[in-house]
Amino acid sequence: MKKIDIHCHVLPKLDDGSSSLQESIRMLKLAYRQGIQAVVATPHYSHQFRQEEPEKIRNLCRRLEVKAKAEVNPDFRVYPGEEIFYSQETLEMLKRQQILTIGDSRYILIEFMPNVPYSLLYRAVRELTEEQYCPILAHVERYGVLREQGRIDELIKAGAYMQMNYRRIGGRWFDETVRWCRKMLKSERIHFLATDMHNTKSRYPQTQEAEAWMLKHLGRAYIEKITWKNAEKILTDGQADVRRDILHY
Ligand SMILES: [Fe+2]
Repeated sequence: MKKIDIHCHVLPKLDDGSSSLQESIRMLKLAYRQGIQAVVATPHYSHQFRQEEPEKIRNLCRRLEVKAKAEVNPDFRVYPGEEIFYSQETLEMLKRQQILTIGDSRYILIEFMPNVPYSLLYRAVRELTEEQYCPILAHVERYGVLREQGRIDELIKAGAYMQMNYRRIGGRWFDETVRWCRKMLKSERIHFLATDMHNTKSRYPQTQEAEAWMLKHLGRAYIEKITWKNAEKILTDGQADVRRDILHY
């Protein structure tokens, strides 16, 4: 099944992701075997890691794409992006183009501490949407405060988009997070699925189990949107609003 991955740590030696260009290619080969035909490379932008210049990320993407076209598939694409740890400086840095959006669209991938208070999440979404950015919450299954009923809907109404990691959908049914993820998918509250792959050993692309579950429980049109169509839309038209097609809020 075709996929476009908008969240992965595939650029070498920038963060806790790939350790070398060779490992990056091995990651992309694994991903390609699972249907992934394009990725948005999203190294961490946070105080924990070195802060890279956008131009360095763009250059690495170009280099990796050339190698991927030669060694993975001639049509493989690698787009630039970042996984931005939200802070008070985020908006200013976006405006000054010091941090990257998803493939130069209006969409940005943002993350928070897992124990983030809901008030901060909500304020961040409002602040970014007021300036016409489209915040995508990275691995939405991680934030405990979103388990409370109505909160995801409130954030979506405020202009947020939800990204979920494939690997959390494919776990055991009695795992509370897996059950919550599946419930969110059945009610079509998720806009993007991604691997969040970091390496080839422990956090490699794992989409098969999720895919098997989805094919049994979700409609084909919705699966296509969250696995590649929404991603393709924002990568080809940075002004697109994928929410309009997907939810009726
Ligand atoms: Fe990540």
